[in-house]
Amino acid sequence: MKTSNHSSTPMIGVFDSGFGGLTVLRALIERLPRANFAFVGDTARLPYGSKSRRTIARYAAQSAQFLVREQGAEYLVIACNTASALALDAIQEAVPVPVLGVIEPGATAARQASKTNDVLVIATNATVQSEAYTAACQAQGLRALEKACPLLVPLVEEGWTDHPVTEEVIDIYLNELRAEAWARGLNPDTLVLGCTHYPLLRPLIERAVRPGVKVIDSAEATAQVAAQIFNGRVTGPVPATEQTEQTEIRCFATDSVEKFERLGSRFLGRPVGKVELLDLGG
Ligand code: DGL
Repeated sequence: MKTSNHSSTPMIGVFDSGFGGLTVLRALIERLPRANFAFVGDTARLPYGSKSRRTIARYAAQSAQFLVREQGAEYLVIACNTASALALDAIQEAVPVPVLGVIEPGATAARQASKTNDVLVIATNATVQSEAYTAACQAQGLRALEKACPLLVPLVEEGWTDHPVTEEVIDIYLNELRAEAWARGLNPDTLVLGCTHYPLLRPLIERAVRPGVKVIDSAEATAQVAAQIFNGRVTGPVPATEQTEQTEIRCFATDSVEKFERLGSRFLGRPVGKVELLDLGG
């Protein structure tokens, strides 16, 4: 097993169904500049958002085991909302390290942002059907209304993050969601982006929501929680003696590494570097 070579520099494993989770990795790197990271994007089996709980749990457990057994991850961050919603328990059972998902941090951030205690959540079909966000929000004293927006992931994958078609699709989804909220007597003032891909649509989404509605990014919220968990060990200023030490970021994809390298930079906000091909079997 490969382990982190510096005891104060833990290896954090980050998992997603594809590239989208790089938005979470980006937020983690900003808050934990001294941690090492190994990222798996299960691009061969994307999307998870249209699959069953059983399949999602099996796929996610395989990636989690690779990150812990082969990469020496001491902590796991499940960047994928769908895997967090449907398979967090299964992942936790599959590995002997702490596992952090994106749902609870997203709900906590919504509670901090909302004054009316009514929140909207947009996510994949599987995430919405699981009602994981509704349960996490209820546990925080919030009323949540969720809506599946299945067209948004392929539009982002296509690179249409600032395209009139995407703008139109967002408007349609949010109008439907608002109408349903109104019919249920809700007064939402917060919208949670419950999918790895949606932060890339944030400018369009912010234009489409009513003035005053706060947009919560689960990626940001999760990175904040991760920073609190790892605080003292990897955050804070880098001592002068360690300033030349580079944090290591290793990326693995289960399908075309070329595509991952090309599209991944859009999500990570900088070049992803050399991506390694990973075969997780069936
Ligand atoms: N990563 C997924 C999520 O955050 C979106 C892509 C997929 O459906 O696999 O829900």
